[in-house]
Amino acid sequence: MKTVFSGIQPSGELHLGNYLGAVRNWVALQEQYPSNLFFIADYHVLTQPYDPKALPGRVSEMVLDLLALGIDPDRSLLFLQSSVSQHTELAWVLSNAAGFGDLERMTQFKDKSAHNPEHINAGLFTYPVLQAADILLYKAALVPVGQDQVQHIELTRRIARAFNHRWGATFPEPEVALTNMPKLLGLDGKAKMSKSLDNHIALSLFADPKKLRKRLAKFATDPARVQREDPGNPDVCNIFTMHKAVSSEADLAWVRQGCTTAGIGCVDCKTRLAENLETHLAGFVTKRAELAATPGIVGEVLDAGAVKARVIASETMREVREKLGLWPSR
Ligand code: TRP
Ligand code: SF4
Repeated sequence: MKTVFSGIQPSGELHLGNYLGAVRNWVALQEQYPSNLFFIADYHVLTQPYDPKALPGRVSEMVLDLLALGIDPDRSLLFLQSSVSQHTELAWVLSNAAGFGDLERMTQFKDKSAHNPEHINAGLFTYPVLQAADILLYKAALVPVGQDQVQHIELTRRIARAFNHRWGATFPEPEVALTNMPKLLGLDGKAKMSKSLDNHIALSLFADPKKLRKRLAKFATDPARVQREDPGNPDVCNIFTMHKAVSSEADLAWVRQGCTTAGIGCVDCKTRLAENLETHLAGFVTKRAELAATPGIVGEVLDAGAVKARVIASETMREVREKLGLWPSR
């Protein structure tokens, strides 16, 4: 029985890039596989500056978002990393199977430490080891993530292999399940759409339609279209990437034809995108509002998920302790 496992950091509200790049795939896999675990990586937050007072709110917003987008607690476990203590326990063990040089090569570590040189702590460096523990604790076979996490999953495979080699066959090597969605860019059309880098470059999934339109208006398009009369190339345009995710074939053809011949302007193109996004997201917005009005729902879902996750996690740790030659715990 293949287990699907993935997670996301509680970076506040989910944005369109999170949805199209990862969460949409989780929902699809949930329909196909019997065993699915999705978690919120709150311990990973500690590696970067954050506001402890705001963290519980960020977690709860994210749970509501995930439920609204279709994560179904009857089919999938949804839980918090910090509620299952075996994550950090296994991370220590696995840090003895992870190569120092491998960790040094992680591009996310290099990028984050360059971006924020005053905050290079050891946790930022060993972050991928905790991520490997997250996955291996549940012996996951399939990990649906965005392109930016592929290197971490490859490292997880190396760590699993090293552990198995040193202490005996224990962990399967997980595979990445990539979405066919190219990475969504933020406002400037250069950096990845992200909440954590800059509050102003992500498109909210649950914003009201007027706000969505205003935001989209500021998004970069093909830089070759300086004037309305200049033809453009949709294949290099972030707006077209979004169209591909939500628009009909007919609309895509309309954009391609109009853009390459300067028959339509970027404003027309964005207006159509905004309409299609609104239609696509309308159901989520209603569902989100219903969930937000249900008292106690976040706590209930997270508690139920953690109880079940702990059962699997403690069985894996029992096996790991035995392989390591540790005195059996009681
Ligand atoms: N590092 C991932 C991110 O920032 C979150 C994450 C933590 C994760 N542990 C994981 C994703 C395990 C998949 C599997 O998006
Ligand atoms: Fe991008 Fe659309 Fe403008 Fe073409 S018309 S450059 S696809 S926004």
